[in-house]
Parts: sequence; structure tokens; C-alpha cells
Amino acid sequence: MGLLRLEELSELSPVALALTVAALSLVLLVLRWVLYPTFDSREPPVLRPKVPFIGHAISIARGINVYYARLHKDKRMPICTLPVLRGKVYVINSPTLISAALRSKTLSFDPFITLFSLNALGLSEPEKERFKDPDYLATASKPIHTSLLGEPLRMVTQAGLSRLAADLNAIGPGKGGVKEVSNALDWLRDVMFLAVMRALYGEKNPISLDLQTHIGEFEKKVGLLVLGIAPRLLAPKALVARSAIQQALAPYYLAGHDQGPDVSAFVRNRAAVKRKLGIRAADLPASDFDIPWTAVTNTIPSLLWLFLHIFTRPDYVDRMRAEVLEATAVTGDGATIDASKLGQKPFISACFLEMQRMYNDAGSVRWVMEDTVLRDADRREYLLKKDTNVQWFGGVLHLNDHIWGADAGTFNPDRFVNADPQEEKKRRGAMIPFGGGKHLCPGRMFAVTEITALIGALALAFDVEGVEMAHVVQPPFPSTGMRRPRWKQGGEPKVNIRRKRGWEDVKITFTV
Ligand code: HEM
Repeated sequence: MGLLRLEELSELSPVALALTVAALSLVLLVLRWVLYPTFDSREPPVLRPKVPFIGHAISIARGINVYYARLHKDKRMPICTLPVLRGKVYVINSPTLISAALRSKTLSFDPFITLFSLNALGLSEPEKERFKDPDYLATASKPIHTSLLGEPLRMVTQAGLSRLAADLNAIGPGKGGVKEVSNALDWLRDVMFLAVMRALYGEKNPISLDLQTHIGEFEKKVGLLVLGIAPRLLAPKALVARSAIQQALAPYYLAGHDQGPDVSAFVRNRAAVKRKLGIRAADLPASDFDIPWTAVTNTIPSLLWLFLHIFTRPDYVDRMRAEVLEATAVTGDGATIDASKLGQKPFISACFLEMQRMYNDAGSVRWVMEDTVLRDADRREYLLKKDTNVQWFGGVLHLNDHIWGADAGTFNPDRFVNADPQEEKKRRGAMIPFGGGKHLCPGRMFAVTEITALIGALALAFDVEGVEMAHVVQPPFPSTGMRRPRWKQGGEPKVNIRRKRGWEDVKITFTV
């Protein structure tokens, strides 16, 4: 049956005509409802997709970070509503509104933690049931934010630093180790990976170096796993990788090594709370599986970017070295670096911040639990409706030229050295590399110290040759935070590390 032509319409009886008009109107109304949903005028301004209904969804699926950055560049909206299929997403771009969102008690991360736990961790069915209970989640999550502070933080940091020092001291003549490192980028990844795992899991650390590629496979697809759509079909390698890591963790938890005296409080307390809540040791490898990958997924790319930016600029190496020397006690053939001081040195801390500004594009997502009003710096208010998804990306703030100036896309640590108060005011709330509010990254101080100590020690006592800046800056994998360096054609540069003259036999140690 074809569509009615106009001349056929005129031949219809009045009743049939009325029914046809009513049916067409209904179809148009439904189409309008589907394609052009209406919004409360107090909600953030609506940015309709060019292709109704599916436009934003397709662009988001192609690369959410890049899409939101482009929308912000084109439209410069402090906050907007994106109609996505039959739903909507609020996207925030203003530092003041993001700070307000982070402080808000009615915007919650919990539904996403549950979603992540149910879909990405590979939990057993009884464990899944527990994770659906908000009280369980609250109790089990408590140690996350209390175990990387004060003395427990100092201990885990020192453990990581001791491992870093051993690897650094293995380079050099007469040490019984290697004379030089000839593939330094891989070396950096390996050394940091092992230091972090050893520091977290203690002497019986079950996460050996060969599991690093599995962590890499998992993080590539973790965003897809979280969505829970056909994981076996879309992310089979990530599932294999997850299972390999969990198999390595199983004997560790079964033997109770997680309660060992040299295990970090971060691993020990989290497992202890869960054991108390009745969780079987056999379920801990899945239940606490977020630990190994969150600990390195952003830490290792951060280390690489800092390394690349420092060692492609001899003047930066000199400035960094001068500050490391201020924090170092040299005695005979030993050098003890006080790593706790490095992150406070003006140039070193500026380099770390600038590296995060350039390459941290961590996304945050919150669920609106109750209708919520957020107020911007110009006092304009926006209503966020209950049961809606709110998102923002660090990269939009970190690379905003209205905030950072025309050179926002250039690595320039001096913007953080002696910044004038007017500049600082403009930047308020615009640096969120570690998130904020209730879910502020608990590993931030550990990561800063390990990274600055390793790069600082290299600047102090080693010559680094062959460093070439990455050709491509790749967006982060979904659900991770750091952009990634990539080199064209010839692959990664072959970087050499060897001892500086006069530092050949100096034994490096770190304190915190
Ligand atoms: C340079 C390195 C790191 C960066 C840039 C980074 C970044 C972040 C960001 C942006 C968040 C917040 C996500 C949100 O608000 O939704 C976060 C959360 C988190 N990070 Fe990190 N992180 C780093 C290192 C670490 C390390 C070393 C650990 C563990 C030892 C860690 C453990 C965590 C955990 C457990 C959370 C979740 C906190 C919660 O949900 O309450 N991170 N991280």
C-alpha cells in the first residue's frame, strides 16, 4: 500500500479525511516528541544535534573527549544540554560550575561505581548482589580515601622509591647491573610499573612485569566493558587480560598475603574491610581488581610525558637538576634525595602541573539524584533535572585559551612559576587533573612523588640521549584520564640512559 496522493485525499469521505488528518497529526506529534524533545527553560541551553535524535550519540561513540572539546571550541557554552536519543546529557565546561558540581551532595558518582563494578570487574553473582547495596558500597569504599594519607602514605611511597632506587643503581659501571639502558621508554614503563606494584602489594607482590601488557589490554577496552554491551564480542582480549591478572591475584589473597606487614594500607585495609563484611578470599581478586590498573593507568603516561618534555630541553634538565641538588645530601659515594621536597620545588612542581594541564583529559560523570541548581561565576543559575547524566572533561578546562592564553596548546611550565595574582584568579578551578570533591584521586600524592623522584634522579645523575617528542597525542582510552604519546612510522625513539661523568659509582637513595 502506497502513501495517499493529494487528489486521492479529495476523494475521501469527510469521516475518512478527518481520521487521516488525525492519524497524520499523531505521527507528526510522535516524531516531534522523539526528534525534538522539550526542556525546562531553566535547564542549561539545549544544543540540538545536526542529525536529530542520533547525531550526538554517533559523535560521542566516535570519541567523546574529542567531540566535547570541539563543541566547546565552537560554541563556548559554560554548560549545555545535549539531547541524546530519547534522553539527555548535561555537559559542563565552566570551572565554577564544575567546582559546584564536585561539591554538590545531590550529584552522585555511586551509580557509576556500581555500574563499573557490575560490568567491568568480573564479579561472582553473590558479589554483584552486594555491590548493588549502597551501604555495602559506602563501607567497602571507606579505606580508599583513608589509606593513602599520613604515615601509610609515607610508607607506600618509600617502598616504591626504594624499588626505583634499586633500578637506577643497577645502571652504571661496577654495579653488576647494566652499563646503560638502550630502550629507555620501555625501561621507564617497567620500572614504574614494578615500583608501584611492589609498593602496593608488598614483598609477595603477585603482579609481575609480564602482566603489564594485560593491564594495557584491559585499559584499552575498560570503557566498553563498563557499558556491558556484548563484552565477549567487543572486548574479548580485555576479558582474557582481566582473567589472567585475577588468576595471578588469587593465590595472594587465598594465602592472606594481603594482610602482610609490608603491604600498603591501601591494599590491606580494603581487603580487611571486605573480609570483615564476609567476602570470601576467592572473590577479592575481582572485587579489588580496580587497584592494579587505576594505580598505573594514568601514572605511566604521566611519567612518559614529563620525561619527554624535560629531556628534549637541556635548559629544563639544568633547572630541574639544580632543584634536585637542593633536596639532595651527597656524602662520599652516596646521594640521598629527599623526594618529599621535589614536588614543592617551583620548577619541578610547575613542570608536573604543566604536563597534567597538557595531557590530562580525565572525564567525570555524575548522576543527578534530586533536581539541583548550579550557579556560575556570573551568578547565572542552571537547573539540573533529577535522573540525568552530568559530564565534564578536564581537557576542556586545561586547554581553554580564554583561561590559559593563546599558547594554551604549548608546554610552558613557566606559566606556573610566579604566576601573577590576576592570572591565578582566572585559573581558579581550571586545573582538575585529579578530579575533586568526594572522589578526589587518593593516589595523587603517591603518584607525584614517584614520578618526580624518578625524573629528578635521572636529571641529577644520568645522561639521557635520543629523546624525540611524540608526533601524535592520542586521546585517553575511555574511562582513563591521560592522553598518550605515539610516534609515526619508525616507532618509539631509542633513548639511552647512562651515568653522568663523576656519578658513575654514586649510590642513589630516596627518603620521604
Ligand atoms: C598521575 C597519576 C594519576 C592521575 C592523573 C589520576 C587521576 C584521577 C582522577 C581524575 C580521578 C577522579 C575521577 C572522577 O572524579 O570521576 C581519580 C580517581 C581515583 N584514583 Fe587516580 N590518578 C592517578 C594516580 C592514581 C594512583 C597511583 C592510584 C592508586 C594508588 C589512584 C587511584 C584512584 C582511585 C582508587 C580513584 C577513585 C576514587 C573514588 O572513586 O572515590 N590514582 N584519579
